[in-house]
Amino acid sequence: MAPLDTDTLLRELDPVVEQNLDRHLAVAKEWMPHEYVPWSDGRNFAMLDGEPWSVEQSTLSSTARTALEVNLLTEDNLPSYHREVERAFGRDSAWGTWVNRWTAEEGRHAFCIRDYLLVTRGVDPDELERARMETMEVGYDSGDKQLLNVCAYVSFQELATRVSHRNTGTYTQDPIAEKLLARVAMDENLHMIFYRNIVQAALEIAPDQTVQAIADEVASFQMPGSIIPGFNRKAVAIAKAGIYDLRIHHDDVVMPLLRQWKIFELEGLGPEGEKARRQLEDSLAALDAAASRFVEQRAAAAAKRQARQQRS
Ligand SMILES: [Fe+2]
Ligand SMILES: [Fe+2]
Repeated sequence: MAPLDTDTLLRELDPVVEQNLDRHLAVAKEWMPHEYVPWSDGRNFAMLDGEPWSVEQSTLSSTARTALEVNLLTEDNLPSYHREVERAFGRDSAWGTWVNRWTAEEGRHAFCIRDYLLVTRGVDPDELERARMETMEVGYDSGDKQLLNVCAYVSFQELATRVSHRNTGTYTQDPIAEKLLARVAMDENLHMIFYRNIVQAALEIAPDQTVQAIADEVASFQMPGSIIPGFNRKAVAIAKAGIYDLRIHHDDVVMPLLRQWKIFELEGLGPEGEKARRQLEDSLAALDAAASRFVEQRAAAAAKRQARQQRS
């Protein structure tokens, strides 16, 4: 089957988007970001004759601070993501309505995480602001991804963000942060379901093309926050803490979606689709092997640390 062009795909998928938009609006419960912020913990900073920030004011561990900062800066870059989805989905019909609704929901994620961090003095606010400026000035650029690639990417990305917010919340051991991030993660989950359903429908309309898009996105997946200053170093700390690592990425993000889409049970793929599915298998094997190596190395390092502590 010849590949469908973007206009045809947009048109063919439009009823599915409309149906899923209605579904989303019916299940997405209204919530108030300000209700999750412990305002009474807040006080002025230096310029208003208050106290400047210093690290001992934070009750969070250094890794918890890093994870929260990465999650927040990722959310902060929303204008770039809006630009990307608007470019791919357009402004018309249910696609355009979804773009605005999704953007409005995403907007509150950064507000409430920032409010929480500022009033609790969880992270250095100057450093945070400088990192925000830098992140947004770089911006996020998907490199003109095609429609189906965008749909596949955001399915994985929304699920990755959900897992990462959830695990960060648990890691902080602060019940307020945990509750806040669990609420944000519920939004991400509904976003994931929306995109997952679009990809599901695309697999029926254009199976070969969609399998190719999924294979491409699994092979090249990068977190949207990968442009944050010092991201690699921060991602390593987050992975070492088990908040988000390759094992989690493989087991809790990539595989559940592939299973849901029944990628390996699909029948009737053409030669291109079959080739893409083999590529996907290869990427999964490589990801799984890298995940196992990482977990082994982490366990070995932890055992070494423990032995050292016992000796001293
Ligand atoms: Fe978000
Ligand atoms: Fe989201």
